[in-house]
Amino acid sequence: MESLGLNEIRERFLSFFEKKGHLRLPSFSLVPKNDNSLLLINSGMAPLKPYFIGIQKPPRKRVTTCQKCIRTPDIERVGQTARHATFFEMLGNFSFGDYFKKEIIEWAWEFIMQELKIPEDRLWVSIYKEDNEAFEIWTKKIGVSPERIVRLGKKDNFWEIGVGPCGPSSEIYFDRGEQAGCGKENCTVGCDCDRFVEFWNLVFTQFNRDEEGNYTPIKHPNIDTGMGLERIAAIMQGVDSIFEVDTIRHILDYVCSLAKIEYGKDVSKDMSIRVITDHIRSVTFMVSDGILPSNEGRGYVLRRLLRRAARHGKLLGIQEPFLYKICHKVIEVSKDAYPELKRKEESIEKIIYTEEERFQQTIDQGLSILQDLMNELITKNSDTISGIDVFKLYDTYGFPLELTMEIAQEKGLKVDENGFYQEMKKQKERARNARKITNIGSWKEDVSIFLGNNIETEFIGYNQLEAEGKVLGIVKQGKNVQKALKGEEVKLLLDKTSFYGESGGQVGDCGIIKTDTGEIYVKDCKKISNRIIHYCKIIKGSIEKDQRVKTYVNKDFRMNTARNHTCTHILQKVLKEVLGDHVEQAGSLVTPDKLRFDFKHFTGLSQQEIKDVENRVNEIILQSLPVKIIETTLDKAKKMGAIALFDEKYGEKVRLVQIGDFSLELCGGTHLSNSSQVGFFKIINESSVASGIRRIEATSGKKAIEFCNSRESLLFESANLLKVTPMDLPRKIEELLKTIRGQQKEIEQLKSKITGNIVEDLLNAKEEISGIPVIIAQQEDLDIDALRKLADQLKDKMNSGVVILASNKKGKIHFVSMATKDVMQKGIHVGNLIRKIAQITDGGGGGRANMAQAGGKDLRKLPEALEKAKEFLAQQIKK
Ligand code: ALA
Repeated sequence: MESLGLNEIRERFLSFFEKKGHLRLPSFSLVPKNDNSLLLINSGMAPLKPYFIGIQKPPRKRVTTCQKCIRTPDIERVGQTARHATFFEMLGNFSFGDYFKKEIIEWAWEFIMQELKIPEDRLWVSIYKEDNEAFEIWTKKIGVSPERIVRLGKKDNFWEIGVGPCGPSSEIYFDRGEQAGCGKENCTVGCDCDRFVEFWNLVFTQFNRDEEGNYTPIKHPNIDTGMGLERIAAIMQGVDSIFEVDTIRHILDYVCSLAKIEYGKDVSKDMSIRVITDHIRSVTFMVSDGILPSNEGRGYVLRRLLRRAARHGKLLGIQEPFLYKICHKVIEVSKDAYPELKRKEESIEKIIYTEEERFQQTIDQGLSILQDLMNELITKNSDTISGIDVFKLYDTYGFPLELTMEIAQEKGLKVDENGFYQEMKKQKERARNARKITNIGSWKEDVSIFLGNNIETEFIGYNQLEAEGKVLGIVKQGKNVQKALKGEEVKLLLDKTSFYGESGGQVGDCGIIKTDTGEIYVKDCKKISNRIIHYCKIIKGSIEKDQRVKTYVNKDFRMNTARNHTCTHILQKVLKEVLGDHVEQAGSLVTPDKLRFDFKHFTGLSQQEIKDVENRVNEIILQSLPVKIIETTLDKAKKMGAIALFDEKYGEKVRLVQIGDFSLELCGGTHLSNSSQVGFFKIINESSVASGIRRIEATSGKKAIEFCNSRESLLFESANLLKVTPMDLPRKIEELLKTIRGQQKEIEQLKSKITGNIVEDLLNAKEEISGIPVIIAQQEDLDIDALRKLADQLKDKMNSGVVILASNKKGKIHFVSMATKDVMQKGIHVGNLIRKIAQITDGGGGGRANMAQAGGKDLRKLPEALEKAKEFLAQQIKK
């Protein structure tokens, strides 16, 4: 058998089926589209389900793909064996109601014989036990000997994942030879041992399984096949495990070089190496498909894999973040088949690094806490880590539940999973309650009183600021009224209006409404379903139900709001350009003064990134791009590639805002007619809102100019203070800082010189009591630490003797006393001594024989106390 590289096998497979009339499609994303039954794509057919069940028309009836797949049911087993992996590629060819059993069996055999050239005597086949048709084809048409065909039951030879297309299958096995097997007499295809490797599954998709478990025959049966690319590569390369396959080995070798170890020398290290090698493949591909680490769903799977790999890095002795380096190896070996990897290389690295770094900050602490917990349990003879502890590890130290479980298991311990989920629930409730409190004051309730469901407002203000309408309802202090007078505050409902009602993040308009009898100031407007509520104050005359009105929106207010709204669209597109395609709107607010845009991104923006974003937005503004409104259907909007929160509910008819060829977005707001009307855009702040969500606050037009002007004034003010020009400011500040640092140094030097002088003076003033040198002195303004330092220096310089120092610091007395060793032997105990001295000043304290301190209160008694000290000393000295 010729040894074939993994990339070569993929190419041979796809072009073989192309020659058989198949359309080669690139791999679909790992994120399923419109399929809630799956978290991640786990087989070649998964993204093709709509074609199989006939709800969508395939681009051709024959398709072939190499699909990236992730399967996570046994993450814990990955690493422990050389067989398990979370990431793999599946080669497949599919027939949507076109060819069936006969053709696929013939082609499969042809591919194995002609392209892979696997010797016939190494091949075995299994079929579903009742599938005589397949048996006939294999034996009669292909000529496989009946002894080589094994009939198996539903568990092995009937393929289904949950609901959807399914059917009996026929699998092709490679015999690795007796030496690879378990040696049991009945060992054959289907045995648990490693001898017979299943590498190609041909599924005859004949049924559709519904939620209740019913199998309905599909009108035109389909074909779905799956060949594990890594597995067939291992067979072709004659290696025992997928980790030895050329491309994967390349990654594994790099892991070894980072850890400075060799593969195959130590069982537990090998496990860690495999964990990292497999998980980084999943992580790299997931991130390239736009998944970001989080605490839910796919994001959580990603986080679990990444953090498990990070911990195994620790076990190998790697202390720094390292996974972000390995992703480049994954990209290197897979980039030809998955060009998106190369395109997104930079952002993949960044996302992995950020998540790794975040975990790095807490992993050591978490591990040591877990270690202590486990040791404590073991000494207490108990075997379960409590839910609270597991939750704390999760919440504070970022340990996914499963990681804690795995580490516990290594020590023979369990975790209280139920307890963990309860803690989780409690936290969610706390968060919900907190949200509830902030929602108090919602304005919704009081307006509903007068909103009969048949009342609707037509908004005709997209292109005009004035409109004519009729009063349909007036609400005054929560009551439906017929008439309102000057000075009163009311909520007003019209049949038609030019006032935009707050919705989609854009605030409501303000302005004036006039009738024949009065004038009304409109403070704000909100949109609820089909109605627009005007929040008003009557400023002249009166207003009555059914009266005709004219509405006048404040032009500046509307224009400034439109500036910020158009900027928000430009900003979103620019963020995608600068930071990557994963950027997605998470919320927004558009007012006349500023805009706020929240978006998904994993880390704070650098100053450079902020500048790049701002510059690019201004560039688009200066390009004077026309802003056009397109009304179309949701489907068409999607096809046109419009940006939208497609998970949100939109009606069938949608409104698109198009800014030149640059941006196309679903939106119901009011906009400019040309980007140049923005004038100027300025980012004011960038911050974090929640984990994985960033916020940009910005402004435009006049406000942006005002903002820059006020910054400039600050600059001038500061420059004036320092008497330099703004240009010279940085240099001046640097100069000043240098001077201050120099002066600080000088002050330190002077201070120690002064202390040195004091030491000298005190040493000169020492006296002798019964043959022992003694220094007794009072200092002003030294705290206890400074006093102790001084006593220390004196003691060191004295060689032999006693020091008694007192200080008056803000009316409080501190005493410190020290003695050298030799005088202690003569009976001196400064602890006892100082207690007696302090007592004289109404204080107290004490200490050891050679070192003591005390406090006192009565300053007037201090001279007496120090005088008495000599007497007490003399009494202590052994005669
Ligand atoms: N869908 C089949 C499998 O994944 C081919 O094994």
